[in-house]
Amino acid sequence: MNSRIIKLVVLLIGFAGFSSCYYDKADTLYPSKTCDTSGTISYAQKVVLLLQQQCYSCHSGGSPSGGIAMGTYTTDKAIAVNGKLYGSISHASGYSPMPQGAAKMTDCQIATIKKWIDAGSLNN
Ligand code: HEC
Repeated sequence: MNSRIIKLVVLLIGFAGFSSCYYDKADTLYPSKTCDTSGTISYAQKVVLLLQQQCYSCHSGGSPSGGIAMGTYTTDKAIAVNGKLYGSISHASGYSPMPQGAAKMTDCQIATIKKWIDAGSLNN
């Protein structure tokens, strides 16, 4: 084989390898800081960031949507403990699916919040 053909073959194999990853979960391929479920989940460093991005805009201030106040540890813990936080973000039946009018949180984001809740929704 001449070297041009070898290069072409290497290129094709490389491309096949690359494109096979294309349909994998983005979370698995490109884990981000907000979506690492390993270890202890920190309220301040993980949970707040997710809720800030996706919930606080409607659920804080003087008249929070649905009467559900969020944005402080006390308020966030209250809906964690009564089941509404996980029920709404996991789109469980009997809860209003949240964030309203936007895409469901990713599986990894939901798992992160669930892990924090299951560990006792600590102010950590
Ligand atoms: C665009 C505005 C908006 C965003 C963003 C939003 N919500 Fe809501 N949420 C509402 C409204 C309006 C209601 C009241 C109507 C209803 O229950 O559907 C509500 C209701 C709720 C309830 C009460 C539902 C129940 O079943 O009792 C919870 C809990 C809740 N939201 C949590 C969240 C969480 C957690 C997020 C972020 C992941 C979020 N919301 C994002 C507007 C929003």
